Amino acid sequence: MATRLALLGGRPVRTRPFPAWPVFGRAEEVRLLRTLRSGRWGRLDGEEVRRFEERFAAMHGCRHGIAVVNGTVSLRLALIAAGLRAGDEVVVPPYTFFSTASAVVEANMVPVFADVDLDTFNLDPAAAKAAITPRTRAIIPVHFAGQPADMDAMMRLARKHRLVVIEDAAHAHGARYGDRPAGSLGHLASFSFQSSKNLTCGEGGIITTNDARLAGRCQSLHNCGRVPGGLWYEHHLISGNYRLGEFQGAVLNAQLDRLDAQTHTRDRNGRYLASRLAALPGLHPQQRPAACTRHGYHLFMLRLDGEAFGAPRSAVIEALRAEGIPCSAGYGFSLPQQPMFRRKAFGPYLSGAAARLDYGRANVPTSDLLCREQGIWLEQPLLLGRRADMDDIARAFEKVHGHGAALSAWARARRPRRRKEAG
Ligand SMILES: Cc1ncc(COP(=O)(O)O)c(C=O)c1O
Repeated sequence: MATRLALLGGRPVRTRPFPAWPVFGRAEEVRLLRTLRSGRWGRLDGEEVRRFEERFAAMHGCRHGIAVVNGTVSLRLALIAAGLRAGDEVVVPPYTFFSTASAVVEANMVPVFADVDLDTFNLDPAAAKAAITPRTRAIIPVHFAGQPADMDAMMRLARKHRLVVIEDAAHAHGARYGDRPAGSLGHLASFSFQSSKNLTCGEGGIITTNDARLAGRCQSLHNCGRVPGGLWYEHHLISGNYRLGEFQGAVLNAQLDRLDAQTHTRDRNGRYLASRLAALPGLHPQQRPAACTRHGYHLFMLRLDGEAFGAPRSAVIEALRAEGIPCSAGYGFSLPQQPMFRRKAFGPYLSGAAARLDYGRANVPTSDLLCREQGIWLEQPLLLGRRADMDDIARAFEKVHGHGAALSAWARARRPRRRKEAG
């Protein structure tokens, strides 16, 4: 068997760092300086954001792209553009970042949680169907980790119940579902360009759609309710200034030139890593349906069944980190258990609906299992390396598995000490 676990004093599998993020170079410098010197720093003055919107939308199978300040605002504006009203219900998964649901509350609408699938970690169509009530007006499937949700099922539900589908594609730049890009699969889609994302300018977001009427509403909503041909100080909708600035547009245009090759690399490495890890007992990499023709791999996510693997998740994560593999447990609890939802800390929103809501009763066992016991995340920059880097990751998992008994004993020995320390 390989040397002792690094956690217990052995030699780590790896000491070299993984690729750094973000990746940038001369192209970003040239565009940023050009923007700086032009003095045209705002969306309405320059060309960078406009050009980026066209290019990003086209790459994602859409005629329209509306860039905004982040991927939370893009969700909220998409909901409002779709014509939803105060108190309307929106089905969302519980295993996602806060914004998928908080944007619904900030649009004065009611998030209803439907559990995710244990194999794909995406919204479970049967759970989404069961969550639909006469008040439901929309579904927000998240393409979790960069893998498109079951959009055929989502669109079937939408047709049957006359719902709007907004893809939360914050993780899914460049991903494909069959022969279509993520971002073109629902009525509207929302992407994020926050620092960790596969396409980034620090902070930013975009709404994509093929519907000219919805695009027009988004345009107006992100620009203080102005309308084409209207006066500068003429406002038709309640909204604000959510326009993205030209410096971000400049960075995004340079980053976009890198996206296709980076997505290809992540997809190839992710597939390979999944095939290696699936061979170990108790490890279940995100299952990839045939419809996912390109995975965005914002995260490489897997499920660890501690009993079958031979050691609990927290110890496995510590052991992997000691072996030189950065990883985490991801979300600590499902969204309905967020203090905001449990305490209904909705601020000025949902005043009419709050009394009938009780998120403490949300039944989302798969999401709970992933959060509390089984989910493990590796972040996207790791997948920008070479096959040898994936081999290191696989070897680290294999080594930790091979020392499961020693690791479990270490975890057991540590538990009482921790309790004592806490006491
Ligand atoms: C699934 C998901 N949706 C929405 C967002 C919100 O994006 P932003 O941070 O740009 O507001 C994020 C960001 O982490 C996310 O992961």
